[in-house]
Amino acid sequence: MKVTVIGAGNVGATCANVLVHKDFLEEVVLLDIKEGTAEGKALDIWQSAAIENYSTRCIGVTNDYAATADSDVVVITSGLPRKPGMSRDDLISTNAGIVSSVTENVLKYSPNTILIIVSNPLDVMTYCAYLTAKLTSNRVFGMAGILDTARYKAFLASELKTSPKDIEAVLMGGHGDTMVPLPRYTTVAGIPVTELIAKDKLEAIINRTKVGGGEIVNLLGTSAWYAPGAAAAQMVEAICKNENRIFPVCAWLTGEYGLKDIYLGVPCKLGKNGIEQIIELQLNSDEKALLDASAKAVKEVMDVLDKMNTTKAN
Ligand code: LAC
Repeated sequence: MKVTVIGAGNVGATCANVLVHKDFLEEVVLLDIKEGTAEGKALDIWQSAAIENYSTRCIGVTNDYAATADSDVVVITSGLPRKPGMSRDDLISTNAGIVSSVTENVLKYSPNTILIIVSNPLDVMTYCAYLTAKLTSNRVFGMAGILDTARYKAFLASELKTSPKDIEAVLMGGHGDTMVPLPRYTTVAGIPVTELIAKDKLEAIINRTKVGGGEIVNLLGTSAWYAPGAAAAQMVEAICKNENRIFPVCAWLTGEYGLKDIYLGVPCKLGKNGIEQIIELQLNSDEKALLDASAKAVKEVMDVLDKMNTTKAN
């Protein structure tokens, strides 16, 4: 199988690097607009194959979409990352233009591909790609929930001095400060997390998770890449191996959770057709209120995009 990663910045290159190490693909194509960047990074990655013992070929191209033809999955990471003091929403106008033109080019050569969006503001850029691609919504979705859940698990694992491998958790909502980690659906080797961590400590971990991306932006002066790249690669793997794994995914809702016409993070089953199923949990009234608040925040930014598109059309 063949996978393309658009954008050879930190997130895109990391995603490609994680993918080739998993060694289940024939080819990973890395594409960037900046002359030489994708070629250089892909060559460097490919030169690690003999050391790391994998066979997946990594190639890099500058804006040559023909080289991406017949990709089974395309990961879109293009766009500007955040700088300190910026919210993900501040990126909307610049990144919407980039994501829609990239999507158009991708679809010319891979008309039936599955698109995973990573660009920010995540939920709205996924909507932007969906509007442009005109694919069914099971084939256009966004990566955020795996990353946000991984951050939540990392903080829990540090607090409990345990392995993150034993932590299972559900986190829903938008990829922003309104995201909704769900302690009621968080377990450590099957034990409810609420039995292991005091309420105030758990509350602090939830709050840190919500601003987990911002914490890294403040430390580095730019967005994270190791965990985001790995998270996107895990979604690609679930699809290409038809694993039917359940992850939180930014998905198009058509009435699930009482919400419709919105992209929002919900638990989904990922397999060969992309989203095979959206899982509907029984949320209590507090959890539902948090999800609704998150949906409202995402909808406001979606409306900004809709207005921009109307202005453009006129
Ligand atoms: C983050 C960016 C990738 O959360 O949105 O780190």
